[in-house]
Formats: sequence, structure tokens, C-alpha cells
Amino acid sequence: MSNPVQEFFRRDRVFDFVAARSHPVIRGEIDTSHGPILYLDEVTVSFDGFKALDRLSLYVDDGELRCIIGPNGAGKTTMMDVMTGKTRPTSGSAYFGQTLDLSRMSEPEIAAAGIGRKFQKPSVFPEHTVWENLHLALKTDKRVWPTLLARLTAAQRDRIHEVLETVGLEDARDRFAGALSHGQKQWLEIGMLLAQNPRVLLLDEPVAGMTQQEIERTVDLLNSLAGAHSVIVVEHDMEFVRAIARRVTVLHEGRVLAEGRMDQVQADPRVIEVYLGE
Ligand SMILES: Nc1ncnc2c1ncn2[C@@H]1O[C@H](COP(=O)(O)OP(=O)(O)OP(=O)(O)O)[C@@H](O)[C@H]1O
Ligand SMILES: [Mg+2]
Repeated sequence: MSNPVQEFFRRDRVFDFVAARSHPVIRGEIDTSHGPILYLDEVTVSFDGFKALDRLSLYVDDGELRCIIGPNGAGKTTMMDVMTGKTRPTSGSAYFGQTLDLSRMSEPEIAAAGIGRKFQKPSVFPEHTVWENLHLALKTDKRVWPTLLARLTAAQRDRIHEVLETVGLEDARDRFAGALSHGQKQWLEIGMLLAQNPRVLLLDEPVAGMTQQEIERTVDLLNSLAGAHSVIVVEHDMEFVRAIARRVTVLHEGRVLAEGRMDQVQADPRVIEVYLGE
């Protein structure tokens, strides 16, 4: 191969290979045979003495769809920061499966092990098509053009088709991401996470700013993802949380205030007091 473009991509593949090898965690090794897929045990996060999380314990089962609610400042985002390695616990432990100690893993290691996170603001590539965004999400090399020019395997193309169908963007595959509606951008970003086939998806306020119709489609999407993935959703929109109607955890001042079905936690006097006192 003397063609310089082909040479370039050969180097690219070496880069991918090295990047994959530098992650000590091999995908698919998450052991959930004896317990939850994700658990925080008495996790405290102190910022200059202020406890954003205060001995928080939380267990999420494999395939579960869990909603986390709670007033502003309750510690919801900080909890996700601990699960993704962005913030280290001051004390306590955080495990992925039985064996992976999240407090000892870097953010890329945790992502590679199968915990994907979506932040509130969509971070799609606006000047690329929906298809290209999904193509980019499949690759570990984050350089845009070398990745887009590299050929996809048949399996990767199948995967992109599958994801397009799951997030309902088949008809929009050739549109620029920047031209999508707000809701479609959010689904695309969820699709970009799904392309990497994570075991756990963390979604921070996924329906903020969506129309009613978009919210309803997102309810269907998240319901369809549960089972094959564990999904943890932080959301302020109570109608949405009610529509998902699974186990709900209420955080307050860095701790679990209540946990149960939505109707149970809504009837809990401590929960009512916290929300009315906002
Ligand atoms: N890096 C930081 N340094 C200092 N304090 C912080 C830091 N990050 C979060 N906090 C504080 O920790 C508390 C919990 O914040 P967090 O963002 O986790 O809340 P939240 O439940 O996500 O709130 P919201 O619903 O408003 O998004 C807040 O009082 C916040 O000000
Ligand atoms: Mg938050």
C-alpha cells in the first residue's frame, strides 16, 4: 500500500488498537451474578467541607430503569459524576458489577467498561449528518475526518441501522444534525451512546426543553431500552417520571430520602415537605 491516504488509515487502526489495549477493562466482564450492576455504598463527596453527597447508598439492578428525582442541589448530578469517574468519593465505595471499583478507574476506562453518559446539552456534531454522527460514535479515534473516511465493517453498518431504528431517526439519517429539532438531537445523542453498546446509560434531564409529543416518544424509547440496558434517569419533569413508572429514588441533601413506586414516594410526607419547601 503506497497510497498515502491508505497509509494514514493504517496508522489510524494502530491508534485504535493501542487505545483499546490501554484500557485494562475488557468489555463484557461485568459480573452481576450475585447482585446489582451498579452500587454506591455510603458515598460522601465533600467540597471544602460541604457534603454534596452524604453517605449515599444506591443499588441499581441489571436491566432496571431507575428515575432519580429531588430538588435543586440534592446531589443528583454529583451522583452521576461519581458513577462516571468525574468526581471521586471522599469516602465510601462505588462498584460496577461485583468487581470494578469505579473510584479507582479513569473516566475513559469507565466509559470503555460500559457506562455511557448523556449530559443535558446535546453534543452532536451539527455540521455532520445523523449517519455520520453515529459512525463517529462507533470509533474510539475521535478525529472526525480520518474516522469518517475509514470504511465501516458490515457489522458496524448493521449496528448503525439498528440504532437508527431504535431512536426513530431512520428518515433523518442524511440530515445534518444541526438541522434537527431539539428532541431529535437528544435522541441522536442517545443513539450515539447506544452505538457503543453500554451496559448502563446515565441520562441527566433528557426531556428538558422537549415538546409534549417528543416527551411521549422519549418515554417509549427509554421503556424499550430497559432490560437490555440499565438506564438511570435524572429528571425534574414529574409527568415524565410518572409515565416511566418504575422505581423512583428521591434524593435530598445528598442522601436518599425515599425510594419506591412513584405513587408511593409522592404520598410520602417527607417528600411532600421537601418539594413544597422548595
Ligand atoms: N464542584 C463543586 N464545588 C462545590 N460545590 C459543588 C460542586 N459541585 C456541586 N456542588 C454543590 O453540591 C450540591 C449538589 O449539586 P448537584 O449539582 O449534584 O445537584 P443536583 O441535584 O444535580 O441539582 P439540579 O437539580 O439543580 O441539577 C449543590 O449544593 C452544589 O452547589
Ligand atoms: Mg443536576
